[in-house]
Formats: sequence, structure tokens, C-alpha cells
Amino acid sequence: MSAVLKVAVDGAHPYAISIGADLLDDGVLLAATIRGRHALIVSDSNVAPLYADRVQAALQAVRPDLTIARLVIPPGEHEKTLQRFGEVLDALAGLSATRDAAVIALGGGVIGDLAGFAGACWMRGIDVVQIPTTLLAMVDSSVGGKTAVDLPAGKNLVGAFHPPRAVIADTSVLHTLPDRELRAGLAEVVKYGVTAVSLDPADAGFLDWLEAHAEALLAREPAITAEAIARCCAFKAAVVGRDLLEHGDRALLNFGHTFGHAIEVEQGYAGTHGGGLNHGEAVAVGMVLAMRLSAALGLAPASAGDRLQRLLQRLELPTSIPEGLAPDALLTRMRLDKKADAAGIRFILADGAGRARVVPGVEEATVLAVLAG
Ligand SMILES: NC(=O)c1ccc[n+]([C@@H]2O[C@H](COP(=O)([O-])OP(=O)(O)OC[C@H]3O[C@@H](n4cnc5c(N)ncnc54)[C@H](O)[C@@H]3O)[C@@H](O)[C@H]2O)c1
Repeated sequence: MSAVLKVAVDGAHPYAISIGADLLDDGVLLAATIRGRHALIVSDSNVAPLYADRVQAALQAVRPDLTIARLVIPPGEHEKTLQRFGEVLDALAGLSATRDAAVIALGGGVIGDLAGFAGACWMRGIDVVQIPTTLLAMVDSSVGGKTAVDLPAGKNLVGAFHPPRAVIADTSVLHTLPDRELRAGLAEVVKYGVTAVSLDPADAGFLDWLEAHAEALLAREPAITAEAIARCCAFKAAVVGRDLLEHGDRALLNFGHTFGHAIEVEQGYAGTHGGGLNHGEAVAVGMVLAMRLSAALGLAPASAGDRLQRLLQRLELPTSIPEGLAPDALLTRMRLDKKADAAGIRFILADGAGRARVVPGVEEATVLAVLAG
């Protein structure tokens, strides 16, 4: 087994992120995260046939007394619903899960958010172990404790902050991840580059490093991929360690997401499985729009948008709004974004040199002009 990288998340709810190859088979590591006698593995029908048996066997070898149940749902963003949330709770009830039970989220961000939210609510909160299987989930959604489901009215509108008990990222599962999903994860990786100085000045050069290693990342070069995951987890750990509830600079991690979420909602959460943009792709487009808005407001040079667009294009990500999505419809969606408040829509804007900030009260006419290209 190769070296395991560890990233600590500090704060009121500390936990460890373990990153390495073949961790799914590490029964000791897995079992150390389970306190009680019940565990529910939640996964989707792409991931479960590939990996659920391995997790279960590894756990059972070390903890033969553990009762393990499994809930497998269809894949895709359109499954991140209140109905599926209810199914996870029913599965916990079927398991007679006690307060020391654990939910094991084995999958991408959809499973992590959905299972995490059910874990946050069952008996007012039980342990959640995140085993992310997409690059996006490894670098972002499995860390930090944001859990949620979508409503037809908006993304992630119902949810809770519920930090996981542990995050176990087995990098070897990325070999079965479709190329398109790998690229979606790279969009969130780029997000850390654009905001690096504000997140952690100690890693200010992350955007330059990404530009130097874009092709290696696309080619899934193992050492480069593991380094990117560990550096992104370190960024995220630093931010959520000081601002779990997003009262401050955790909001910077939403760079590109106000635009991106509007695209996702407006296309009805079509995602990969419904012929639309998936979350990471929508964020890629959203980041270009956010950088263009930053430039329109004089906060960044126009060249910053071009530089970001070039990097995203090298990573084979979309950088413009899909056909058929009207600017005014997207603006309407943004008004219900969680970052909107009495002052209007709040945007995360960047300076093109690694610094980002929250900007409230942006004129809607300026936003519309950016949306209209
Ligand atoms: N909670 C947070 O802080 C946070 C942060 C970012 C994103 N998110 C959420 O994450 C979600 C997107 O997550 P995602 O991009 O991981 O999507 P996803 O969970 O839909 O996974 C993408 C696809 O890859 C498949 N898949 C997953 N792992 C695989 C593997 N190893 N091999 C083969 N196929 C595999 C899945 O079945 C699915 O079809 C969105 O709902 C977004 O809102 C949450």
C-alpha cells in the first residue's frame, strides 16, 4: 500500500481526511470510524457494484459484530431529493439504527450530500463517514460538513451543517471515473487556484501549479492527482476549521457557484444523466462569468477572465452558457440563491491574482450584461 496523506480539519468538530490508494480495503482505518453496532452504506447504482462489497468486507473482517445494511439509489443530481432523503431515513429505521450508528456515504457529491443530510437528521444527528469516489467529492463536497438536498425551486435549499466523523479518499477508485466526471472535479480544483491567496497564503501559487500540470491532471497522473487532492483538502480544511458555518470567508469557496447553480436549476438538474451540464461543468462556466463580472466592476483586469478561460479550456471544460438558457431567467434563479439576502444577490468576486471577496449589492443590470456576453 502506498503512503497515506493525512489532512486534519480542526475547529469545534475535528476529523481527519485520509488520502491514498486502496484505502477501501483498509478495514482497520474504516472500522476506527464506527462507534456503534450499525452502519448503513448509501451509494448509487454506478458506484455500489464496483466498490460496496469491498468496503463491507473490509469492515466486517475487523468488526464481525457490525450489522451493515445498504441503500443503493439511481445516480444523478436529480436524485438529490427529499424523497430519496426519506428513503435513507427509512433504511436507518429498518436497520434499527441507534444514536451511535454510522451512515457511510460511498459515492460522489450527490450521495455525500444526501446521505450526509440524512445522517444529520436521524435522531438529530449520527456519525457520517464520507468515502468520496469522484474527484469533485474528494477535493470538495466530502469535506466541511455541508449536507443538503435540492428542491425544484433551488439547489441545496434544504440541508444542515454536519461535519463528518472521517473522510477516506481512496484515489485508486478514480480509475473507473468517467473522463467527464474527472473534468468536473478539476473545475472545483481550479476554484481553489483562483481564490488561493485568500484561502491560505501559504499556498498562493496553486493556480500557477495547475497551469503547469493541467495535462498531467487530465491524464490522471497518480502523484500529481494525489498532490492536487491533498492541497485542495488543505485549503478546505483551513477555511472550514475557522468558519464552519460560513459566517465569514468560507463563502469564498462559492466562487462561480451563484452563476453555476442558476444554470443547474434552470436546466432542471439535468446533469450528466439528463443531457445537461453537471455541477462541476456549471461551476466552470460560472467561474468565467464571475471573473468577467469582477472585471466589469473594475476589480480584476480583463486578462484575468481570459487566463481562467484558457486554463478551463485546456482542462476540456465548458466556459460559456449552454444554448437556450436566457439571461433574465438565470438572473431570476440567482435571486433565490442561498447567498442572496435583503441586500440582493451577493457575488464572490476575484482579482485574478488569487484574492477573492464577497460583494453585496451588485447592480442587476451589470449582471445581466455579463450573462448576455
Ligand atoms: N457539500 C458540499 O460542500 C459540496 C461541494 C461541492 C459540490 N457539492 C455537490 O456535489 C454534487 C456533485 O458531485 P459529483 O460531481 O461527485 O456528482 P455525482 O455524485 O453525481 O457523481 C458523478 C457521476 O459519477 C459516478 N461515479 C462516482 N464515482 C465513480 C467512480 N469511482 N467510478 C465510476 N463512476 C463513478 C456517479 O454514479 C455519477 O454518475 C452536487 O450535488 C453538488 O451540489 C457539494
